[in-house]
Amino acid sequence: MHYGEMMDDIEIIKQRKRDAINIPLSKEVHHKESTTYLEYVTLIHNALPEVNLDEIDTSTTFLNHKFKSPIIIDSMTGGAEEAREINSRLAETAQEFGIGMGVGSQRAGLLNKELEYTYSIAREKAPDIFLIANIGAAQLAKGLSIDEIKRIIDMIKANALAIHLNPLQELIQPEGEPSFKCVYDKIKEVVKSVNIPVIVKEVGSGISREVAVKLEMINVKAINIAGAGGTSWAGVERYRAENASIDYNTHLGDLFWDWGIPTAASLLEVKNSTKLPIIASGGLRSGLDIAKCIVLGADLTAFAYPFLKAASESVESSKKLASLLIGELKSSMFLVGATNIASLRKVRYIIKGALAEWFR
Ligand SMILES: Cc1cc2nc3c(=O)[nH]c(=O)nc-3n(C[C@H](O)[C@H](O)[C@H](O)COP(=O)(O)O)c2cc1C
Repeated sequence: MHYGEMMDDIEIIKQRKRDAINIPLSKEVHHKESTTYLEYVTLIHNALPEVNLDEIDTSTTFLNHKFKSPIIIDSMTGGAEEAREINSRLAETAQEFGIGMGVGSQRAGLLNKELEYTYSIAREKAPDIFLIANIGAAQLAKGLSIDEIKRIIDMIKANALAIHLNPLQELIQPEGEPSFKCVYDKIKEVVKSVNIPVIVKEVGSGISREVAVKLEMINVKAINIAGAGGTSWAGVERYRAENASIDYNTHLGDLFWDWGIPTAASLLEVKNSTKLPIIASGGLRSGLDIAKCIVLGADLTAFAYPFLKAASESVESSKKLASLLIGELKSSMFLVGATNIASLRKVRYIIKGALAEWFR
């Protein structure tokens, strides 16, 4: 029997949502060999910063929305009771710190109305934030209608819609759907039909310049690169395949565990080939990483796993993480003499090693 036939659709999705939380929390699912390449970026120290640390301003504007700091809690969860609590804690954090947030893929909320609250809790807890709806490209290819897309937007009163591209994950996932034919035309149709900006994102393998150029041509409004170096979805799905005793997918998970474009390389590929606003993500773990990404050309940065871990503990841990990241960002800005995000963008930097070779 095919794994997908063992449970009906909604049960599979609910279980997958639980696995997507529990596996990253209980197993090591970060990239092993590959890194973000941010270690190859050096910001030039300014010994004469001419700024006071307590006057540094991290606010910025993205797609006409004001952010107190250039941070998004990246798309992660929804669709199960455990997910509701995590979304609630994340949203409370985002509201308090004036940062953005994405919910996880909303397919479960579409299939079962009773699960909508696991997503809409985010808007309840965070009435003012930039909140991002989420759906997979594979679902679009399967024929998700524009009405259904509008429903997921309304579900959380979203400010933007993220469509995730996850071919690697679909490939390894026991019940995955590695069918991406016509996805581009579908994204084009969605962009034309919804009245909020569409952001296209990866989930940890990065966006290349070729893909970015194609997305810019159809009026996608921003790209979340989600490069390699952080959470590995080949890793997560590999464990799910192993639990389901599917040897071939387990093998593929091991083979492609480190697959993808390192975050810093993806960021520069997209920056150098399009004018699209960029959300840098994939393995970002500190405020110094935020500063480096902004200097390289990102408009915002996003963090997934670190916030999952913190929010699974408590709302206080989640807020502590946000506060730490902002403190580290301000410290980095102090050391390069940047009073605000606009001046941070002009800081001189060098790139070396594998990142320099990438563009040789
Ligand atoms: C537990 C978990 C669940 C995720 N679920 C989704 C999802 O439903 N939709 C999506 O677009 N990305 C999803 N992602 C991918 C993240 O948004 C992000 O792109 C990726 O994890 C890289 O960031 P990180 O290294 O900081 O975790 C998920 C990530 C994690 C850790």
